[in-house]
Order: sequence, then structure tokens, then C-alpha cells
Amino acid sequence: METILKTENLCKYYGKGENQVRAVRSANLAIKKGEFTAIVGKSGSGKSTLLHLLGGLDYPTNGKVWVKEKDIFSMKEEELAIFRRRKIGFVFQAFNLVSSINVWENIALPLGLDGKEADEVFVRDIINTLGITDKIYNLPNTLSGGQQQRVAIARALASRPDIILADEPTGNLDSRTSDEVVTLLKTSSQKYGQTVVMITHDEDIAQIANRILVIEDGKVVEQG
Ligand SMILES: Nc1ncnc2c1ncn2[C@@H]1O[C@H](COP(=O)(O)OP(=O)(O)O)[C@@H](O)[C@H]1O
Ligand SMILES: [Mg+2]
Repeated sequence: METILKTENLCKYYGKGENQVRAVRSANLAIKKGEFTAIVGKSGSGKSTLLHLLGGLDYPTNGKVWVKEKDIFSMKEEELAIFRRRKIGFVFQAFNLVSSINVWENIALPLGLDGKEADEVFVRDIINTLGITDKIYNLPNTLSGGQQQRVAIARALASRPDIILADEPTGNLDSRTSDEVVTLLKTSSQKYGQTVVMITHDEDIAQIANRILVIEDGKVVEQG
């Protein structure tokens, strides 16, 4: 399979001199299309920083990221924002749903920002796959944590992005719900042919992945 996401000598340093934190140190990754990759590491090891760089949410100190052959940091800010919206779906620990609009509207929101209408058949299929069909007119705060995260996953999938980047998507869920949510993330990404990079501090959750990378003090290595 072709490589869809690649980094070269990717570095992110915060601060200067003695106080410098080297959050990501010279990461060289190649992720294949359709792969489900987990990146595991302790708190403070650089996981979120790495994920933000992979998704173009933050700029590196050094190095490059390619998404589908495109050197993402060679783009101007606005161009990168559009590229990100079309090619990458994000899922965060805190769900980040808009509390004043219902589930369906939350799922369709990123499409609207891109001036597109939701492909209703496709979005309904995602919603069915994730088991939230009877919740589409609910407001987010009437849902359980696990249901809210399934909405966030549906929202990430709805624009058919090539890559889903998930930062501790089960961090706010109990272990049973975590297993359910991460299984649904895997099932749906496989069904729709998407590549997933999921960050977690939980070794058990990481086992669902096809491939596990470990990050320690900003250094990324293959597990095993
Ligand atoms: N904006 C920032 N400014 C300064 N230091 C930061 C910033 N963001 C993260 N760090 C530091 O970088 C390191 C990695 O952080 P982070 O990527 O959030 O780790 P993780 O997600 O694995 O918990 C930590 O030492 C953290 O304190
Ligand atoms: Mg983090």
C-alpha cells in the first residue's frame, strides 16, 4: 500500500536554553493508506505535539510532513486550513461538540464550513454504523460520554477525509466504553477506507491497532 503520511526529521522544541523542552525529536514516520496506527506514550512524552504537527495544527521547529505527497508546511496558512478541513478529520479527548446545536448539525458542521452539503445517505450510514441513529435530534449534553465521542467520530468521518487523527479519544471514557468507541473507530475507518493515527497512553487500547509506535521523551520508535 502507498504511503499517505510521512515525516522527515520532524522536530518541535519549546523555549530556549536551559528551559528548552524538546517535545518531538527528529521523528521519521511513514504511514500507509488504510493503516490503523497507535502511538503510545506516557503523559508529557510529546504525543499531542506530534499529532498537531501531523495534522498541520502547529508548525514544526524543523523537518517536514507530507500528506498525500503534499509538503503541508510549504502551504500558506489559509491554504493549509482548507487542506486540513478536506483531508484530515480530528477527534479529541474532550469531544469538542457545539453544545447549542443538535447531533446531526454537529456532524454536518465541518461540511458547512467548507461550503458543502452533507451527503445525507453517507452521513446516515456513518450514524448507523456508530449506533447513534436515535440521537440525531438530541443536544450533545443529553448524551453519555461514549455517545458524544461517537458523534465526534461521525463528524470526523463525514467529510470523507483521507486521514483521521485522534488524540486520546478514550481519555474521558470508562474502560468498557473505551473499548466500544475504539472498536467503532476501527470498524468505521475500515468501512470507509480511512487511515487512522490514534494517540493513547493506554497500552490495552493500543492493541486494536495494526501497528504500534512508542514515543518517549519526544523520540518515536516502532514497538517490538
Ligand atoms: N505550548 C507549549 N509550550 C511549552 N511547552 C509545551 C507546550 N506544549 C507542550 N509542551 C511541553 O512539551 C512536552 C510534550 O507535551 P505534549 O505533547 O502535550 O505531551 P502528551 O500529549 O504526551 O502528554 C511536555 O513537556 C509539555 O510540557
Ligand atoms: Mg496529550
